[in-house]
Amino acid sequence: MNIASLKCSLCGAEYPADKIKYVCPKHGDSGLLDVIYDYDKIKSQVSPRHISRSNDFSIWRYWNLLPIENHDSVPTLRVGWTPLYRASRLGKQLAIKNLFLKDDGSNPTGSFKDRASAVVVSKAKELGADIITAASSGNAGAALAGLSASAQIPAVIFVPSTAPEAKVAQLLIYGAHVFLVKGTYDEAFDLCLASSKKYGWYSRNTGYNPYTTEGKKTASLEICEQLGKRSGTSEEWVAPDCIFVSVGDGNIISGIWKGLRDLLALGWIDELPKLMGIQAEGSAACYNAWRAGTETITPVDAHTIADSISVGLPRDGTRAVRAVRETGGAFVTVSDDEILDAMRILAREEAIFAEPAGAAGYAGLVRAMSMGIIDGDEEIVVVITGNGLKDVPAAIRAAGKPLLIEPKLESVPRI
Ligand SMILES: Cc1ncc(COP(=O)(O)O)c(C=O)c1O
Ligand SMILES: [Zn+2]
Repeated sequence: MNIASLKCSLCGAEYPADKIKYVCPKHGDSGLLDVIYDYDKIKSQVSPRHISRSNDFSIWRYWNLLPIENHDSVPTLRVGWTPLYRASRLGKQLAIKNLFLKDDGSNPTGSFKDRASAVVVSKAKELGADIITAASSGNAGAALAGLSASAQIPAVIFVPSTAPEAKVAQLLIYGAHVFLVKGTYDEAFDLCLASSKKYGWYSRNTGYNPYTTEGKKTASLEICEQLGKRSGTSEEWVAPDCIFVSVGDGNIISGIWKGLRDLLALGWIDELPKLMGIQAEGSAACYNAWRAGTETITPVDAHTIADSISVGLPRDGTRAVRAVRETGGAFVTVSDDEILDAMRILAREEAIFAEPAGAAGYAGLVRAMSMGIIDGDEEIVVVITGNGLKDVPAAIRAAGKPLLIEPKLESVPRI
């Protein structure tokens, strides 16, 4: 394992990884830690060329850049190495020459969150944890339930009672203990944290456990490797100019940023892409902080059809705002109608069926183009973060209902 230290994102204090489990002791629950690696050591072990020849088509192809010691700790479920599609038709519509869609809804439990859970469950196994817990708006829980089933560790998951039924069913089918909390995601989060402290359960909570970001960073490693392969120089990795991703708690965008910073530290990419954080208009706490020029997040009363990014108090908001600011990107907000449009367009033009939060990144790109803040010559990647079957009622709202007909030929109109 190549970890050098855990570094507080607020005060910069560094700690040995075996001494601290979650957050900076000086800052309590808000002192999120970045995992810092010994980059010289990694460079002496592997190179982009070396990794590009790996036959491991999962996040674990980046083993030397991940925080796990023992291969036996890794669950068997295959996570990551999701497709990066060139979206020629949509690129043409938007006058973007090089547009790519990273389909993370194709992960085993249907969302980007599998990346984090694969790493955290491995870490739990390494630490000998008996029980692992998380609060979730649905997907992080499903990912934890799936990966825990794969590793055979019991999982306890707290979800707001408003979560879509399909997401709750997914938790239960994997055998997780599920608490439906009569409250918001934010309340479920606080309850989960308090329970994990009371009972000693290992907490996977987003914006608390330092290793979720490490799992999520694998998406940016893949993007740079896959773009390198596309450009015909699989020996070298290539960062795009711009990455669009939806933001709720802000941990996905922080993770993507972390992966890119690791690559820059290794000298495997030359520049950081602009990170574009997309929030729903009704759940825009990070956007508000970014616009106000601060890192301090003021909670909002969150309402949006995109339940996965419906977050009043983003737990990784400060790093999310930094990710956008320090890469010269922007936050953009989109309405629920724009999200529903994006769901239809992605499915019809590029055959990618996304849940609302999964399509929000693309809705943000459409909005950013109309605002004139993106140049069509830039190479752009949009991360599609979740599968459409996660939220069937939203899909029906986007797609409409079919025609009900009698079982007679004369009822079938010409189309
Ligand atoms: C499908 C999907 N998209 C986007 C997000 C946003 O990620 P984060 O909360 O880390 O910002 C989530 C989080 O649950 C998600 O499930
Ligand atoms: Zn600190």
